[in-house]
Amino acid sequence: MLPIFLISLFISSTNSCSQVQKTWRCLDATWTLFNRGSYSWCIRPAYGMVPLGNASSLCQDLDSSAVLTGFQDLTELSKMSQEVANHNDSIVYMAIGAVRSDNCKTTESLSTASCTPSNMFVWTDGKTTGSAGFNWLVRQPNGCFEPGCSASNWVVIYPGYSGKMDDFWEDWLVNGAICGMEAIQN
Ligand SMILES: *[C@@H]1O[C@H](CO)[C@@H](O)[C@H](O)[C@H]1NC(C)=O
Ligand SMILES: *[C@@H]1O[C@H](CO)[C@@H](O)[C@H](O)[C@H]1NC(C)=O
Repeated sequence: MLPIFLISLFISSTNSCSQVQKTWRCLDATWTLFNRGSYSWCIRPAYGMVPLGNASSLCQDLDSSAVLTGFQDLTELSKMSQEVANHNDSIVYMAIGAVRSDNCKTTESLSTASCTPSNMFVWTDGKTTGSAGFNWLVRQPNGCFEPGCSASNWVVIYPGYSGKMDDFWEDWLVNGAICGMEAIQN
């Protein structure tokens, strides 16, 4: 029979082996790591004057898997808008990964409960979920509520105004984009 202290040593070392923590990192220090439970997400701004419809190319230029990001919660949104405001307080608009959902682009759909201003926009990055990360400016979204509208309805944040959001249906020039990509697991 093994002495009791050896048995407990064996058990505790087995336990510590099974408790190895997953660690996540971003490509480099220009990205901020956010823990989203079962995975982690990296976010950073990319600067450059582009039309809204081209803003995703700013993310693609950083990495082939980077896309316009959504925000899982207001912590992610406020950290990123603060970073942009600190970088350059003249920046007005930054594109993000949200659009009006396809089933909310007809006049008829706009009178249904699934297409109200609070639920008609969706995240486009394929990972962000829910609506906790939306933070509309007062009286927004207000685009294309008139008959016959079928616009894309992009979304920007105003970094100088706490990252409040606004919807645009014209291919407006923006100062850059907020990009996201999955963190790398070690
Ligand atoms: C925007 O994208 C379109 C289509 O890909 C391209 O033809 C155009 O040159 C781009 N414009 C800018 C300013 O990047
Ligand atoms: C700050 O942003 C403004 C507006 O886009 C731009 O004109 C200016 O060149 C930027 N300044 C710096 C130092 O990047």
